[in-house]
Amino acid sequence: MKILFVCLGNICRSPVAEGILRQICEQNQINWHIDSAGLSDWHKGENPDPRSIQNALKNGTDISSIVSRPLLEHDLDKFDEILLMDKKNMKQIERFRFFLPNIHKIRLAGTYLHPNNPTEIPDPYYGVEKDFQEVYDLLFSIANTMVSSAFSRE
Ligand code: 4NP
Repeated sequence: MKILFVCLGNICRSPVAEGILRQICEQNQINWHIDSAGLSDWHKGENPDPRSIQNALKNGTDISSIVSRPLLEHDLDKFDEILLMDKKNMKQIERFRFFLPNIHKIRLAGTYLHPNNPTEIPDPYYGVEKDFQEVYDLLFSIANTMVSSAFSRE
């Protein structure tokens, strides 16, 4: 299974998603390929936002070595699932026309919590610590649901 998490900057939400799911997979010896990317290249080459690094660490997840990169055309062939954070991301991805043939691979990460009414992961960039904690809690639930649903199907 190859999973790509995508948000706007690839410095607040998607690196946390990547770090949590990678950690759960490592703990359970699950061999998934996990990555994250941004819909913009505004933070290309940067590590995650210090507030995200700090909050994730407080919760036991080290995301400090993740490096922001923009979404690329070949991601569509490479990954099985491309999971976005909010409805604005879904709208923004429409301008990546190369995605259209693979549109079935793209959905909100929150569909793992509520398939018919997906929970959005709110952008914490202009927020405070409790907003970063909300992001962590939601992504932790999503990552656990992803793993348990994949293995209950076997
Ligand atoms: P992210 O958050 O999409 O979760 O990484 C943001 C990061 C940076 C900006 C906006 C949102 N920005 O405006 O630079």
